[in-house]
Amino acid sequence: MTERFTITTPIYYPNDRLHIGHAYTTVAADAIARFHRLRGEDVFFVTGTDEHGQKIEDRAGKVGKTPIAYVDEIVSDIRDLWQTLGISNDDFIRTTEPRHERVVQEVFRRLEAKGDLYLSQYEGWYCTPCESFWVEGKLVDGNCPTCGGPVARLNEESYFFRLSRYAEPLLQHIESNPEFIQPVSRRNEMIQFIRQGLEDLSVSRTSFRWGIPLPQDPRHIAYVWVDALTNYITACGYLQDPERFNRYWPADVHLVGKEIVRFHAVIWPALLLSLDLPLPKVVYGHGWLLLGEQKMSKSKGNVIDPRQLVRRYGRDAVRYYLLREVPFGADGSYTEDALILRTNVDLANDLGNLLSRTTAMIERFTGGVIPGPASSSLRGQAEETVRRVEERLERLQVSDAVAAIFELVKRANKFIEEEAPWQLHRSGDPRLADVLYDLAESLRITAVLLKPFLLEAPNAIYRQLGLGDAAGATLADAAWGGLAAGTKVERGEPIFPRIETERAAEETPAAPAGSAPAKTEAPQAAPAEAGTITIDEFQRLDLRVGTILEASRVKGADRLLELKVDLGEGEPRTVVSGIAEYYEPQALEGTQIVLVANLQPAKIRGVVSHGMILAGKTADTLQIVSPREPLPAGTKIK
Ligand code: MSP
Repeated sequence: MTERFTITTPIYYPNDRLHIGHAYTTVAADAIARFHRLRGEDVFFVTGTDEHGQKIEDRAGKVGKTPIAYVDEIVSDIRDLWQTLGISNDDFIRTTEPRHERVVQEVFRRLEAKGDLYLSQYEGWYCTPCESFWVEGKLVDGNCPTCGGPVARLNEESYFFRLSRYAEPLLQHIESNPEFIQPVSRRNEMIQFIRQGLEDLSVSRTSFRWGIPLPQDPRHIAYVWVDALTNYITACGYLQDPERFNRYWPADVHLVGKEIVRFHAVIWPALLLSLDLPLPKVVYGHGWLLLGEQKMSKSKGNVIDPRQLVRRYGRDAVRYYLLREVPFGADGSYTEDALILRTNVDLANDLGNLLSRTTAMIERFTGGVIPGPASSSLRGQAEETVRRVEERLERLQVSDAVAAIFELVKRANKFIEEEAPWQLHRSGDPRLADVLYDLAESLRITAVLLKPFLLEAPNAIYRQLGLGDAAGATLADAAWGGLAAGTKVERGEPIFPRIETERAAEETPAAPAGSAPAKTEAPQAAPAEAGTITIDEFQRLDLRVGTILEASRVKGADRLLELKVDLGEGEPRTVVSGIAEYYEPQALEGTQIVLVANLQPAKIRGVVSHGMILAGKTADTLQIVSPREPLPAGTKIK
């Protein structure tokens, strides 16, 4: 029978539009869910919205809407956001749905039947943004210890859940299941918290109406956290679809932000123990995305809109940044510069380049056909990478898993430098086939391993390798040797164009910055008509075919490449060209170009350029001019 895997995100409050802090949790859960699907498991991934409670009622009132009209609008915006980010949830649960309200009411009946519910008076403090009760002693300078905001004094009749009864069984469970609360720092915090003693928990309110009435006493509205936590069993089919419930409950992972671990690792398991239901296997509390030193949160007004980032940089770049940048579990600061750097270095340079170099070399050296290898040098590292990714994701080390994949990409790039396939080609060395196959196969495996994290890049890599769509690929396809020799590559656009942050307008490709125009003498032959030139004038241009031997970026100039061009003169020419926005340097190696060979040398950003390459430029693309078929270096263009 296939393994099953259930993963949840917190259900989000629809009191405002979500920001990248929320996207962080959901994208991470999505990557983990996709990884388990890649392994062929039967995955149930659920997210949703936590729609009841005083906070929502207050918010709706402020804008003159009914609570349901208010949340409906935001919930549809949240669904749309998850679509934008490519979230693959199997269910979306709203706590206002009848399927959930029925379950919450039944939960209250069962708690009562168990003797775990009693009526009393609550006297203490309440934080509405966190929907949390606090005893005096826990406040920090009179404020909420979680969000630092003001708390309100409550004195109202309330039903209580006998949480105190479960302190011992909970401690026992935590101690005998070391993986239950992760990372270990949160586990230790929770053990300490429970050891201090658990008080019974107020689980109903009478001072507002927006929520689920208790079946035994409808004047009372269910405490929103009991309502919210119950979503996890409702979504799995509790009391409605026993077969489904047995299959998908208990959850394998509740992924939550660290500030709500307490609810998931203390209150929720105690409720489940009272209901005689199995406990979730893992509660993982990840860290916060900070802006500067502070947690990003709407109440602080310091939030970043994920949609805007997707529009600007693309979905894969945003997902990659969220999954890779911050070690999972720790806090980390968000900056747009770091997002740009990650995209340019890891995605455009390392991954994009590896693909364009590899396909370019296969096109040039083996007629576009992936050759059959005799032996493999990268196989060991590729196999090790698959193991590492699995192992790290099993431990929910999301960023480390992504890092492992990019180690393989880096290794493959280095391998190109070490092996210099263009030299193997020149000398007719048969090892060329091994090297090219190794590169293509490492890329294919990289694409399979990237499937949980990136949505477009794996398909683009597959397509350029001539393999069609990556949609059907599973983890079994990450085994070395899956790439059939004889496959024909289909070169395409760079999969991740570099993000340019500064544009030096003068550095146009056709007239690089600083290049002095060649001095022209007065025409010797018949005077030309205005707007035309004589044949003699044209012949003064020395246009020649050259082959790019090396290409590298010019330091401090985002748009310039330094090229070493073979013109059949022995010593290669150095040419500076403003094409860095359109071509990855390594992808150019081996490419033929047309050079204005008698242009007066010019110093551009400290490099002396001996000539200018020809290119056609439109508003959105640039193409360098190449002969249709290769010509000997130095061939004159007439
Ligand atoms: N509704 C409750 C959860 C109920 S679960 C049964 C809630 N909702 S929330 O809208 O405030 O979202 C909380 C979750 O969003 C956090 O637990 C965390 O996973 C995520 N994040 C919100 N801001 C965040 C950051 N700045 N950084 C990282 N995650 C953040 O609490």
